[in-house]
Amino acid sequence: MSKYWNKLINGIEPYVAGEQPKPGQKVIKLNTNENPYPPSPKVGEALKRFDLSDLRLYPDTNSTDVIRAAAKFDGVSEENIFCGNGSDEVLAIAFQTFFEKKALTGLPVLMPDYSYSFYPVFSEFYDIRRKTIALREDFRLDPDDYIGVPNCGIVFANPNAPTSRAIAVADCAKIAAANPDSVVIVDEAYVAFEEEYESAVSLINEYKNVCVIRTLSKAFSLAGIRLGYAVGSAELIEGLKRARDSFNSYPVDRLAQKVAEAALLDKDYYDETRAKIIATRKVFAKEIAELGFTMPPSSANFVYAKPPVQISAGTLYQNLRNKGILVRYFNKPVLCDYLRITIGTDEEMAQLTDAIRQEVLNAENS
Ligand SMILES: Cc1ncc(COP(=O)(O)O)c(C=O)c1O
Repeated sequence: MSKYWNKLINGIEPYVAGEQPKPGQKVIKLNTNENPYPPSPKVGEALKRFDLSDLRLYPDTNSTDVIRAAAKFDGVSEENIFCGNGSDEVLAIAFQTFFEKKALTGLPVLMPDYSYSFYPVFSEFYDIRRKTIALREDFRLDPDDYIGVPNCGIVFANPNAPTSRAIAVADCAKIAAANPDSVVIVDEAYVAFEEEYESAVSLINEYKNVCVIRTLSKAFSLAGIRLGYAVGSAELIEGLKRARDSFNSYPVDRLAQKVAEAALLDKDYYDETRAKIIATRKVFAKEIAELGFTMPPSSANFVYAKPPVQISAGTLYQNLRNKGILVRYFNKPVLCDYLRITIGTDEEMAQLTDAIRQEVLNAENS
Protein backbone atom coordinates (compact mmCIF):
# COMPACT_ATOMS: atom_id res chain seq x y z
CA MET A 1 0.00 0.00 0.00
CA SER A 2 1.20 3.49 -0.73
CA LYS A 3 -0.35 6.92 -0.57
CA TYR A 4 1.27 7.62 -3.94
CA TRP A 5 -0.56 4.79 -5.70
CA ASN A 6 -4.09 5.30 -6.88
CA LYS A 7 -7.01 3.35 -5.46
CA LEU A 8 -6.91 0.79 -8.27
CA ILE A 9 -3.23 -0.06 -7.77
CA ASN A 10 -3.63 -0.14 -4.01
CA GLY A 11 -6.52 -2.58 -4.31
CA ILE A 12 -5.48 -4.84 -7.17
CA GLU A 13 -4.12 -8.36 -6.77
CA PRO A 14 -1.62 -8.61 -9.65
CA TYR A 15 -1.04 -11.75 -11.71
CA VAL A 16 1.64 -13.99 -10.25
CA ALA A 17 3.89 -15.59 -12.87
CA GLY A 18 5.51 -18.99 -12.32
CA GLU A 19 8.78 -19.00 -10.41
CA GLN A 20 11.84 -18.06 -12.47
CA PRO A 21 15.09 -19.72 -11.39
CA LYS A 22 17.87 -17.41 -10.27
CA PRO A 23 20.60 -16.75 -12.86
CA GLY A 24 22.96 -19.74 -12.93
CA GLN A 25 20.61 -21.95 -10.87
CA LYS A 26 20.23 -25.39 -12.47
CA VAL A 27 16.68 -26.71 -12.35
CA ILE A 28 14.33 -28.81 -14.43
CA LYS A 29 11.82 -26.11 -15.27
CA LEU A 30 8.34 -27.52 -15.83
CA ASN A 31 6.27 -24.72 -14.31
CA THR A 32 5.47 -22.16 -17.03
CA ASN A 33 4.62 -24.29 -20.07
CA GLU A 34 7.68 -23.29 -22.03
CA ASN A 35 8.90 -25.48 -24.86
CA PRO A 36 11.91 -27.69 -24.00
CA TYR A 37 13.22 -27.56 -27.59
CA PRO A 38 15.08 -24.63 -29.16
CA PRO A 39 13.34 -22.45 -31.74
CA SER A 40 13.61 -23.28 -35.46
CA PRO A 41 17.15 -23.09 -36.91
CA LYS A 42 15.65 -20.56 -39.36
CA VAL A 43 15.37 -18.20 -36.38
CA GLY A 44 19.13 -18.43 -35.82
CA GLU A 45 19.76 -17.69 -39.51
CA ALA A 46 17.45 -14.65 -39.36
CA LEU A 47 19.33 -13.34 -36.32
CA LYS A 48 22.67 -13.77 -38.12
CA ARG A 49 21.36 -11.78 -41.07
CA PHE A 50 20.05 -9.01 -38.81
CA ASP A 51 21.60 -5.63 -39.56
CA LEU A 52 22.63 -4.03 -36.26
CA SER A 53 22.24 -0.52 -37.62
CA ASP A 54 18.51 -1.21 -38.12
CA LEU A 55 18.13 -0.87 -34.35
CA ARG A 56 18.51 2.90 -34.75
CA LEU A 57 15.05 3.01 -36.24
CA TYR A 58 11.66 2.43 -34.68
CA PRO A 59 10.10 -0.86 -35.72
CA ASP A 60 7.20 -1.21 -38.15
CA THR A 61 4.08 -0.39 -36.11
CA ASN A 62 2.02 -3.11 -37.75
CA SER A 63 4.72 -5.84 -37.86
CA THR A 64 3.84 -6.25 -41.54
CA ASP A 65 6.30 -9.11 -42.24
CA VAL A 66 5.09 -11.05 -39.22
CA ILE A 67 1.49 -10.49 -40.27
CA ARG A 68 2.26 -11.81 -43.76
CA ALA A 69 3.86 -14.94 -42.28
CA ALA A 70 1.04 -15.44 -39.74
CA ALA A 71 -1.61 -14.97 -42.44
CA LYS A 72 0.08 -17.68 -44.51
CA PHE A 73 0.40 -19.94 -41.47
CA ASP A 74 -3.29 -19.58 -40.56
CA GLY A 75 -4.70 -19.36 -44.09
CA VAL A 76 -6.32 -15.95 -43.59
CA SER A 77 -5.86 -12.46 -45.06
CA GLU A 78 -3.38 -9.98 -43.68
CA GLU A 79 -6.25 -7.69 -42.66
CA ASN A 80 -7.29 -10.42 -40.20
CA ILE A 81 -4.13 -10.28 -38.04
CA PHE A 82 -2.97 -8.01 -35.25
CA CYS A 83 0.44 -8.41 -33.54
CA GLY A 84 1.43 -7.53 -30.01
CA ASN A 85 4.12 -7.90 -27.37
CA GLY A 86 3.18 -11.41 -26.27
CA SER A 87 -0.37 -12.68 -26.19
CA ASP A 88 -0.75 -11.22 -22.70
CA GLU A 89 -0.52 -7.79 -24.28
CA VAL A 90 -2.87 -8.76 -27.11
CA LEU A 91 -5.35 -10.04 -24.51
CA ALA A 92 -5.02 -6.82 -22.51
CA ILE A 93 -5.66 -4.72 -25.62
CA ALA A 94 -8.60 -6.95 -26.55
CA PHE A 95 -10.15 -6.46 -23.09
CA GLN A 96 -9.79 -2.69 -23.55
CA THR A 97 -11.18 -2.78 -27.07
CA PHE A 98 -14.11 -5.16 -26.84
CA PHE A 99 -15.40 -5.17 -23.26
CA GLU A 100 -17.20 -2.29 -21.55
CA LYS A 101 -16.28 -0.58 -18.28
CA LYS A 102 -18.51 -1.09 -15.22
CA ALA A 103 -19.45 2.56 -15.21
CA LEU A 104 -20.93 2.22 -18.70
CA THR A 105 -22.71 -1.11 -18.47
CA GLY A 106 -24.04 -3.48 -15.88
CA LEU A 107 -23.00 -6.37 -18.09
CA PRO A 108 -20.12 -8.68 -17.14
CA VAL A 109 -17.49 -10.41 -19.22
CA LEU A 110 -18.02 -14.16 -18.90
CA MET A 111 -15.11 -16.47 -18.16
CA PRO A 112 -14.69 -19.99 -16.76
CA ASP A 113 -14.14 -20.25 -13.01
CA TYR A 114 -10.88 -22.13 -13.54
CA SER A 115 -8.94 -20.65 -16.40
CA TYR A 116 -5.96 -18.44 -17.17
CA SER A 117 -5.51 -16.36 -14.04
CA PHE A 118 -4.70 -13.21 -16.00
CA TYR A 119 -8.34 -12.84 -17.16
CA PRO A 120 -9.71 -11.75 -13.75
CA VAL A 121 -6.70 -9.46 -13.27
CA PHE A 122 -7.38 -7.73 -16.60
CA SER A 123 -11.05 -7.32 -15.69
CA GLU A 124 -10.02 -5.66 -12.40
CA PHE A 125 -7.36 -3.53 -14.05
CA TYR A 126 -9.71 -2.24 -16.74
CA ASP A 127 -12.67 -2.01 -14.35
CA ILE A 128 -14.83 -4.48 -16.25
CA ARG A 129 -17.44 -6.46 -14.35
CA ARG A 130 -16.95 -10.23 -14.61
CA LYS A 131 -19.04 -13.32 -14.08
CA THR A 132 -17.37 -16.67 -13.71
CA ILE A 133 -19.11 -19.70 -15.18
CA ALA A 134 -18.42 -22.98 -13.44
CA LEU A 135 -16.69 -25.70 -15.42
CA ARG A 136 -18.47 -29.05 -15.19
CA GLU A 137 -17.39 -31.71 -12.70
CA ASP A 138 -14.77 -33.15 -15.06
CA PHE A 139 -13.37 -29.64 -15.87
CA ARG A 140 -15.30 -29.65 -19.15
CA LEU A 141 -16.45 -26.29 -20.49
CA ASP A 142 -20.07 -26.72 -21.59
CA PRO A 143 -21.03 -24.24 -24.36
CA ASP A 144 -24.67 -24.31 -23.19
CA ASP A 145 -23.57 -22.53 -20.01
CA TYR A 146 -22.70 -19.49 -22.16
CA ILE A 147 -26.11 -19.25 -23.79
CA GLY A 148 -28.72 -16.80 -22.52
CA VAL A 149 -26.39 -15.18 -19.97
CA PRO A 150 -26.31 -11.38 -20.52
CA ASN A 151 -22.72 -10.21 -21.05
CA CYS A 152 -20.46 -7.58 -22.59
CA GLY A 153 -18.05 -10.24 -23.88
CA ILE A 154 -16.71 -13.75 -23.35
CA VAL A 155 -13.17 -15.05 -22.88
CA PHE A 156 -11.86 -18.57 -22.45
CA ALA A 157 -8.75 -20.54 -23.26
CA ASN A 158 -9.01 -23.51 -25.60
CA PRO A 159 -7.38 -25.81 -24.59
CA ASN A 160 -8.03 -24.42 -21.14
CA ALA A 161 -5.30 -23.70 -18.61
CA PRO A 162 -4.59 -25.02 -16.07
CA THR A 163 -7.08 -27.83 -16.71
CA SER A 164 -5.64 -28.86 -20.13
CA ARG A 165 -9.04 -29.80 -21.61
CA ALA A 166 -10.22 -28.61 -25.01
CA ILE A 167 -13.64 -28.14 -26.56
CA ALA A 168 -14.47 -28.65 -30.25
CA VAL A 169 -14.43 -25.70 -32.63
CA ALA A 170 -18.15 -26.43 -33.24
CA ASP A 171 -18.71 -25.62 -29.55
CA CYS A 172 -16.83 -22.31 -29.91
CA ALA A 173 -19.13 -21.58 -32.89
CA LYS A 174 -22.16 -22.37 -30.74
CA ILE A 175 -21.04 -19.80 -28.16
CA ALA A 176 -20.33 -17.19 -30.86
CA ALA A 177 -23.69 -17.80 -32.56
CA ALA A 178 -25.58 -17.44 -29.29
CA ASN A 179 -23.85 -14.14 -28.44
CA PRO A 180 -23.83 -12.16 -31.72
CA ASP A 181 -23.53 -8.78 -29.99
CA SER A 182 -20.45 -9.72 -27.95
CA VAL A 183 -16.89 -10.50 -28.88
CA VAL A 184 -15.88 -14.05 -28.01
CA ILE A 185 -12.15 -14.32 -27.31
CA VAL A 186 -10.76 -17.81 -27.84
CA ASP A 187 -7.26 -17.92 -26.37
CA GLU A 188 -5.44 -20.64 -28.30
CA ALA A 189 -2.08 -20.47 -26.54
CA TYR A 190 -1.96 -24.30 -26.44
CA VAL A 191 -3.92 -25.32 -29.52
CA ALA A 192 -0.86 -26.77 -31.27
CA PHE A 193 -0.64 -29.55 -28.72
CA GLU A 194 -3.98 -31.06 -29.63
CA GLU A 195 -3.48 -34.26 -31.52
CA GLU A 196 -6.23 -33.54 -34.04
CA TYR A 197 -5.36 -29.91 -34.54
CA GLU A 198 -8.50 -27.75 -34.74
CA SER A 199 -8.51 -23.95 -34.58
CA ALA A 200 -11.31 -21.44 -34.14
CA VAL A 201 -9.55 -19.39 -36.86
CA SER A 202 -11.78 -21.31 -39.27
CA LEU A 203 -14.76 -19.43 -37.78
CA ILE A 204 -13.68 -15.84 -38.36
CA ASN A 205 -15.36 -15.35 -41.74
CA GLU A 206 -18.71 -16.66 -40.59
CA TYR A 207 -18.58 -15.19 -37.09
CA LYS A 208 -17.42 -11.59 -37.14
CA ASN A 209 -17.40 -11.62 -33.32
CA VAL A 210 -14.74 -14.35 -32.87
CA CYS A 211 -11.28 -13.15 -31.89
CA VAL A 212 -8.68 -15.92 -31.70
CA ILE A 213 -5.51 -15.20 -29.77
CA ARG A 214 -2.26 -16.99 -30.52
CA THR A 215 1.22 -16.93 -29.04
CA LEU A 216 4.69 -17.86 -30.27
CA SER A 217 5.75 -18.55 -26.67
CA LYS A 218 4.71 -22.21 -26.55
CA ALA A 219 4.66 -24.19 -29.80
CA PHE A 220 7.27 -21.97 -31.47
CA SER A 221 9.66 -22.03 -28.46
CA LEU A 222 9.81 -18.22 -28.38
CA ALA A 223 8.66 -17.17 -24.90
CA GLY A 224 11.83 -15.06 -24.76
CA ILE A 225 10.87 -12.65 -27.54
CA ARG A 226 7.28 -11.83 -26.57
CA LEU A 227 5.13 -12.15 -29.66
CA GLY A 228 1.43 -12.87 -29.76
CA TYR A 229 -1.25 -12.16 -32.31
CA ALA A 230 -4.98 -11.95 -32.75
CA VAL A 231 -6.93 -13.38 -35.68
CA GLY A 232 -10.39 -12.01 -36.39
CA SER A 233 -12.62 -10.09 -38.77
CA ALA A 234 -11.13 -6.90 -40.25
CA GLU A 235 -13.56 -4.95 -38.06
CA LEU A 236 -12.17 -6.48 -34.84
CA ILE A 237 -8.57 -6.02 -35.99
CA GLU A 238 -9.19 -2.36 -36.79
CA GLY A 239 -10.50 -1.87 -33.23
CA LEU A 240 -7.38 -3.47 -31.74
CA LYS A 241 -5.18 -1.11 -33.78
CA ARG A 242 -7.13 1.90 -32.51
CA ALA A 243 -6.51 0.77 -28.92
CA ARG A 244 -2.84 0.02 -29.56
CA ASP A 245 -2.27 3.42 -31.13
CA SER A 246 -3.78 5.05 -28.06
CA PHE A 247 -1.35 3.23 -25.81
CA ASN A 248 1.94 2.10 -27.43
CA SER A 249 2.23 2.24 -31.19
CA TYR A 250 5.49 0.22 -31.40
CA PRO A 251 4.74 -2.85 -29.30
CA VAL A 252 6.90 -5.35 -31.22
CA ASP A 253 10.61 -4.57 -31.57
CA ARG A 254 12.65 -5.15 -34.72
CA LEU A 255 14.45 -8.24 -33.47
CA ALA A 256 11.22 -9.87 -32.37
CA GLN A 257 9.66 -9.18 -35.76
CA LYS A 258 12.52 -10.87 -37.65
CA VAL A 259 12.56 -13.84 -35.30
CA ALA A 260 8.79 -14.32 -35.34
CA GLU A 261 8.59 -14.13 -39.13
CA ALA A 262 11.28 -16.81 -39.52
CA ALA A 263 9.59 -19.10 -36.99
CA LEU A 264 6.14 -18.77 -38.56
CA LEU A 265 7.53 -19.63 -41.99
CA ASP A 266 9.05 -22.91 -40.72
CA LYS A 267 5.90 -24.98 -40.31
CA ASP A 268 7.80 -28.27 -40.70
CA TYR A 269 9.87 -27.57 -37.60
CA TYR A 270 6.75 -26.53 -35.68
CA ASP A 271 5.01 -29.80 -36.62
CA GLU A 272 8.09 -31.82 -35.68
CA THR A 273 8.35 -30.17 -32.23
CA ARG A 274 4.70 -30.43 -31.35
CA ALA A 275 4.62 -34.10 -32.37
CA LYS A 276 7.55 -34.78 -30.01
CA ILE A 277 5.77 -33.06 -27.12
CA ILE A 278 2.50 -34.89 -27.77
CA ALA A 279 4.38 -38.23 -27.79
CA THR A 280 6.20 -37.41 -24.53
CA ARG A 281 2.94 -36.30 -22.91
CA LYS A 282 1.30 -39.64 -23.70
CA VAL A 283 4.11 -41.63 -22.07
CA PHE A 284 4.31 -39.35 -19.03
CA ALA A 285 0.53 -39.30 -18.48
CA LYS A 286 0.43 -43.11 -18.64
CA GLU A 287 3.32 -43.46 -16.21
CA ILE A 288 1.93 -41.14 -13.57
CA ALA A 289 -1.54 -42.68 -13.98
CA GLU A 290 0.12 -45.99 -13.06
CA LEU A 291 1.44 -44.28 -9.92
CA GLY A 292 -2.12 -43.37 -8.94
CA PHE A 293 -2.44 -39.86 -10.38
CA THR A 294 -5.72 -38.81 -11.94
CA MET A 295 -6.02 -36.12 -14.63
CA PRO A 296 -8.34 -34.85 -17.32
CA PRO A 297 -7.33 -35.77 -20.88
CA SER A 298 -4.71 -33.21 -21.93
CA SER A 299 -4.74 -31.31 -25.22
CA ALA A 300 -1.92 -29.02 -24.07
CA ASN A 301 1.84 -29.12 -23.41
CA PHE A 302 1.12 -29.80 -19.76
CA VAL A 303 -0.95 -32.16 -17.65
CA TYR A 304 -3.16 -31.20 -14.77
CA ALA A 305 -2.63 -34.03 -12.36
CA LYS A 306 -3.94 -34.95 -8.92
CA PRO A 307 -1.50 -37.03 -6.86
CA PRO A 308 -2.62 -40.26 -5.17
CA VAL A 309 -4.03 -40.01 -1.62
CA GLN A 310 -0.68 -40.82 -0.01
CA ILE A 311 0.73 -37.39 -0.82
CA SER A 312 -0.82 -33.95 -1.19
CA ALA A 313 -0.14 -31.77 -4.23
CA GLY A 314 1.36 -29.09 -1.95
CA THR A 315 3.82 -31.49 -0.31
CA LEU A 316 4.80 -33.07 -3.62
CA TYR A 317 5.35 -29.63 -5.18
CA GLN A 318 7.62 -28.61 -2.30
CA ASN A 319 9.58 -31.88 -2.26
CA LEU A 320 10.13 -31.74 -6.02
CA ARG A 321 11.24 -28.13 -5.72
CA ASN A 322 13.78 -29.19 -3.08
CA LYS A 323 15.12 -31.68 -5.64
CA GLY A 324 15.47 -28.94 -8.27
CA ILE A 325 12.33 -29.75 -10.24
CA LEU A 326 9.87 -26.89 -10.65
CA VAL A 327 6.21 -27.65 -11.41
CA ARG A 328 3.26 -25.30 -10.92
CA TYR A 329 1.15 -25.37 -7.79
CA PHE A 330 -1.79 -23.02 -7.23
CA ASN A 331 -2.59 -22.64 -3.55
CA LYS A 332 -6.29 -21.93 -4.14
CA PRO A 333 -9.47 -23.92 -3.47
CA VAL A 334 -9.89 -26.93 -5.83
CA LEU A 335 -6.67 -26.06 -7.74
CA CYS A 336 -4.63 -26.89 -4.64
CA ASP A 337 -5.39 -30.59 -5.15
CA TYR A 338 -3.55 -30.60 -8.47
CA LEU A 339 -0.15 -29.92 -10.01
CA ARG A 340 0.21 -28.41 -13.45
CA ILE A 341 3.20 -30.11 -15.01
CA THR A 342 4.74 -28.85 -18.26
CA ILE A 343 5.90 -31.49 -20.72
CA GLY A 344 9.67 -31.27 -21.12
CA THR A 345 12.08 -33.54 -22.98
CA ASP A 346 11.87 -37.32 -22.58
CA GLU A 347 14.92 -37.17 -20.28
CA GLU A 348 13.41 -34.47 -18.07
CA MET A 349 10.12 -36.34 -17.77
CA ALA A 350 11.95 -39.58 -16.94
CA GLN A 351 13.79 -37.79 -14.11
CA LEU A 352 10.54 -36.28 -12.89
CA THR A 353 8.77 -39.65 -12.99
CA ASP A 354 11.57 -41.23 -10.94
CA ALA A 355 11.40 -38.39 -8.40
CA ILE A 356 7.62 -38.69 -8.15
CA ARG A 357 7.81 -42.48 -7.75
CA GLN A 358 10.27 -42.00 -4.91
CA GLU A 359 8.05 -39.40 -3.21
CA VAL A 360 4.97 -41.61 -3.45
CA LEU A 361 6.95 -44.56 -2.00
CA ASN A 362 8.32 -42.41 0.84
CA ALA A 363 4.83 -41.15 1.64
CA GLU A 364 3.47 -44.71 1.66
CA ASN A 365 6.17 -45.84 4.08
CA SER A 366 5.92 -42.92 6.47
C1 LIG B 1 -3.85 -19.48 -21.60
C2 LIG B 1 -2.70 -18.54 -21.79
N1 LIG B 1 -2.86 -17.47 -22.56
C3 LIG B 1 -1.86 -16.59 -22.76
C4 LIG B 1 -0.63 -16.77 -22.17
C5 LIG B 1 0.43 -15.71 -22.36
O1 LIG B 1 1.36 -16.05 -23.31
P1 LIG B 1 2.42 -15.00 -23.86
O2 LIG B 1 3.73 -15.55 -23.52
O3 LIG B 1 2.16 -14.95 -25.34
O4 LIG B 1 2.14 -13.67 -23.22
C6 LIG B 1 -0.41 -17.87 -21.37
C7 LIG B 1 0.92 -18.06 -20.73
O5 LIG B 1 1.21 -18.95 -20.03
C8 LIG B 1 -1.47 -18.78 -21.17
O6 LIG B 1 -1.32 -19.85 -20.37
